[in-house]
Amino acid sequence: MTDQAKQDDRAGLGIQAGDSVEVTLGEAAHGGWCVARLADGRVIFVRHGLPGEQVRAQVTDVTSHFARADAVEIITASPDRVPPPCPQARPGGCGGCDWQHASLPAQRTIKASVIAQQLQRLAGLEWPVTVEPLPGDDAGGAEDGLAWRTRMQFAVSPSGVAGLRGHRSHEVIDVGTCLIAHPAITELAITRRDWPGTVAVEAIVVPETGESAVVVAPRGKKGAGADHRGRSDLDGADAVLIRSGRAGLAAVRGHSYLSQRAAGRQWRVSASAFWQVHPGAADALTEAVLAALQPAAGDTALDLYCGAGLFAGVLAPLVGPGGTVVGVEYDAAAVRDARHNLRDWPWARVHRGDVGEVIKRGGLPAARLVVADPPRAGLDPRVIEHLDGSERFAYASCDPATLARDVARLRVRGWELTALRAFDAFPMTQHVECVATLVR
Ligand SMILES: C[S@@+](CC[C@H](N)C(=O)[O-])C[C@H]1O[C@@H](n2cnc3c(N)ncnc32)[C@H](O)[C@@H]1O
Repeated sequence: MTDQAKQDDRAGLGIQAGDSVEVTLGEAAHGGWCVARLADGRVIFVRHGLPGEQVRAQVTDVTSHFARADAVEIITASPDRVPPPCPQARPGGCGGCDWQHASLPAQRTIKASVIAQQLQRLAGLEWPVTVEPLPGDDAGGAEDGLAWRTRMQFAVSPSGVAGLRGHRSHEVIDVGTCLIAHPAITELAITRRDWPGTVAVEAIVVPETGESAVVVAPRGKKGAGADHRGRSDLDGADAVLIRSGRAGLAAVRGHSYLSQRAAGRQWRVSASAFWQVHPGAADALTEAVLAALQPAAGDTALDLYCGAGLFAGVLAPLVGPGGTVVGVEYDAAAVRDARHNLRDWPWARVHRGDVGEVIKRGGLPAARLVVADPPRAGLDPRVIEHLDGSERFAYASCDPATLARDVARLRVRGWELTALRAFDAFPMTQHVECVATLVR
């Protein structure tokens, strides 16, 4: 073995990056992989394959406990295999999509099995899971699962080419047209333009209103001087915004926020703030959260990690003037949006701050109903303690592993999981959105 090979073989697995192994793929694992085992039981996580397939896999890296690999040759194909619609969905290509080589129903079955597996392993629950398609992806045609993404972050190479990153890589892949991007994003032609002095470009569109914004992140100090002000090639965007460090976004043209539509009304959402990227997701999630919480007039409800106030805004009219709704969010722009979006209901208010810290300083009332929609890291443990006084909890989660971990912690404190809905809010990728109902 060369020194480099010895270094690659850190785990003493006897394999190293670049090696080829023939394996039969087992179940799908969280993260877009299938689990395979070598004859001696060693684990390899393989991308670009499907459960049950026999493949030749090329090892991409070796850690102290396992190896990762790409299926580079399919020896026995799964009946669920389809030709990936995008030529970049391949080993060494764009890392944005994980399951383009599976039919959409198979993708949903895989995601359902991953959620069920996490619940079983981390929360000790046998829970049958179905992943539901969102409107727009259920017509049964070739367009299902494509052209949905209303927000795209493009990385820019040092030579000024905007593209998408490879899997677990900093390499910027010149993808041309991304097939999961909404057509209104494709029209902005971000990947066909030059981006001198730029490290990233984000495009945001609102299909219902036709609004669009382009957010440019300058590359270091030099990039700060790159002039995007006079760019006529961005005339197609309603707003051009420059990301300026901690100060947030500076508008070169247009507003720094967009008007989103969900739950039958408009929402002001800053270009820097969170909003679901699938056009059908906000509606599906609000419906699931309301079904979980069953709000009544006079209720007190918390919306933790509230973003622009989506769930608080559907709860406020239902609890009415005799009730109270309190949102918590730490992003300043999102807090401004949430306050704006809740302005019609004086009994709804928003705390700015870290959810755990707001709880610690006693800033939240006891509430019968709580919805939380945390980032991938899941719930702050202080949220779980604070929930002791509540009766119904809707947990919106974009990570089945932290969802299952938190369900386990909640069960210890007397909560019971009574329903779980899962939505295919990110077709072609390994990501999935869940709303769990827990009651006490
Ligand atoms: C997944 S988004 C949910 C937003 C909203 N529920 C929606 O659906 O539009 C999570 C939000 O939590 C905020 N956030 C993340 N960590 C937080 C923390 N520790 N304390 C307060 N807010 C946090 C983020 O800024 C983001 O707006």
